[in-house]
Amino acid sequence: MNDILTRDTLYNRLGGQPGIDKLVDRIVDLHLHNDVAGPRYQALSDEATARAREKVKEFLAAGSGGPVEYTGRSMLEAHTGMNVSSAEYVAVVDDIMQAMNEMDYPRPVCDEVLGIAYSLKEEIIHK
Ligand code: HEM
Repeated sequence: MNDILTRDTLYNRLGGQPGIDKLVDRIVDLHLHNDVAGPRYQALSDEATARAREKVKEFLAAGSGGPVEYTGRSMLEAHTGMNVSSAEYVAVVDDIMQAMNEMDYPRPVCDEVLGIAYSLKEEIIHK
């Protein structure tokens, strides 16, 4: 189905919850090893990392049209006080794209996730 009005939800094109879980696990793994953004994640306790991982899974599932309710904080609330830089932001988006490329998602699916990530930029950086 190529028609934008009739195609499947982004949630289903991401492989539903199993696909999203696998994707987010890989993204978090890349974040932890990222030279630019890594220190932010390495500083979290194991509990905080586990919580953030679950909230990001929920956020992506709910935001892509899945049957899930997001129970975490808003992007503004979650990142306020961190003063995230533009470089950290780009590093995080690079990790998301790397994980999606590794998992062989089609280009249009990557672009849609990229668009969502980009739309959140103003709520996340310099707060
Ligand atoms: C598209 C970009 C991003 C999205 C969608 C996103 C999403 C989220 C979500 C859903 C949470 C959990 C919220 C909650 O605790 O209720 C979170 C927490 C967090 N994010 Fe982001 N984030 C993004 C970018 C970034 C960037 C650029 C950084 C900095 C390198 C960052 C660092 C963190 C940290 C450290 C936490 C844990 C905060 C805590 O436990 O207090 N995020 N993020």
